[in-house]
Amino acid sequence: MKKLITGGTVVTAADEYRADVLVEDGKVAQIGHDLDAGGAEVVDASGLLVFPGGIDPHTHLDMPFNNTVTDDDWETGTIAAAHGGTTTIIDFCLTAGEKRLKDAVVKWHEKADGKAVIDYGFHLMVGELNEDTLSQLPDVLEEEGIASVKVFLAYAREFQASDRTLFQAFKVGADTGAVVLVHCENGSVIDELVDTALAEGHTEPKYHYLTRPPQLEGEATKRAIELANLAGAKLYVVHVTCKEAVDEIIEARNKGYDVLGETCPPYLTLDQTYLEKPGFEGAKYVWSPPLREKSNQDVLWHALQSGQLQTIGSDQCSFNFNGKKRLGIDDFSKIPNGGPFIEDRFGVLYSEGVVKGRISLQEFVAVVSTNAAKTFGLFPQKGTIAVGSDADIVLFDPGVERTISASTHHMNVDYNAFEGMEVRGEPVSVMVRGEWVIKDRKFVGNPGSGMYLRRELANAKTERQPVGLGGK
Ligand code: URP
Ligand code: ZN
Ligand code: ZN
Repeated sequence: MKKLITGGTVVTAADEYRADVLVEDGKVAQIGHDLDAGGAEVVDASGLLVFPGGIDPHTHLDMPFNNTVTDDDWETGTIAAAHGGTTTIIDFCLTAGEKRLKDAVVKWHEKADGKAVIDYGFHLMVGELNEDTLSQLPDVLEEEGIASVKVFLAYAREFQASDRTLFQAFKVGADTGAVVLVHCENGSVIDELVDTALAEGHTEPKYHYLTRPPQLEGEATKRAIELANLAGAKLYVVHVTCKEAVDEIIEARNKGYDVLGETCPPYLTLDQTYLEKPGFEGAKYVWSPPLREKSNQDVLWHALQSGQLQTIGSDQCSFNFNGKKRLGIDDFSKIPNGGPFIEDRFGVLYSEGVVKGRISLQEFVAVVSTNAAKTFGLFPQKGTIAVGSDADIVLFDPGVERTISASTHHMNVDYNAFEGMEVRGEPVSVMVRGEWVIKDRKFVGNPGSGMYLRRELANAKTERQPVGLGGK
């Protein structure tokens, strides 16, 4: 049904203006003043900000990891995302253990089908590549509409890739135009530090951060940057946490390297002392890379504000505290890594960023939506409010004051890492392709209504050259 949103302030990454928005057939049909409702449902948005739906480029829903599976699936995770103002996610499709990469993609579709309430795409995660999987990679990307590949330089016992595999992935990226996302930590050195800590009898959660120092993020970031540049690939560094990594990214960008970076709300707002909470409480804050010293927060905010980091991912990877987190009760290295952030990504960024004067409204829209759409081949279908774009729209009340709590959130997890944080602003109603998913703070969508977003590779098969050394 047609909808006319009246009296709100439309905010994009470029603009901010009072206008009505007419939505028809899932698209933004008109933007202007005194538009003819013509039988449309009229929604009064006076006093509200009208944002493009958030795009979260980093989620792990229903993902096997650390000897267990994440607790939010595609239904609970996407409903929580929608409540928080996110209308598109790009989730990591795990290929570990699959001989045929395509089988992994089929499996990921089965997880999302019938459950997702917002739109979604996949990044293809690759572990150690062999001749066979490497040769499958370009075709799988093209056939499955996946324009990004993920490589881990950490989690030595699960996903970690060698430098050779990393470089091969970059060569595929250069050849196909796929963006290569990299988790930058030196997993082998971390394992050595973990084994030493355990041998010395240190089992508490705080040893998670003590065995993953920021130098190991800086080193891996530098390595990924140089190898990506040598291969001629576009590099996207996921979940940047510290000055060591930010400095490498800025230096590379200043040299003209094709490097982008993402950070996440907890690194901007929490610090490593959370892992020192009494008893096992610190396990709630165990994810990787770990929380850092507070001084890194200003570095990250500044990098976001100045455009040296471009996006905010949630890195949603939830495990119940009174549940799967307890796998590590006697050994910090067995605590499943990850936290619940999909719902609060947008709101925390608005409150801690815009309300506190660290970023402008336009910068906010850029980092929570537009830049991810541009980076991952979804713009201008997604990531803005413009005639012809998908009507993914968030009606946001900037005046509401609320306290984040697990008692009111919608994620399928028994704690919230931002528990007690007082924030200003709240998504009130959220639509995806012109249909309400959240209306007046209530979920009114349909599981399965979320659509898979096929993305085009920048270099089509017919135009590709054989993979060479590349470089600039
Ligand atoms: O601890 C985290 N971040 N868990 C999810 C996997 C990853 O490294 O992104
Ligand atoms: Zn990671
Ligand atoms: Zn992640």
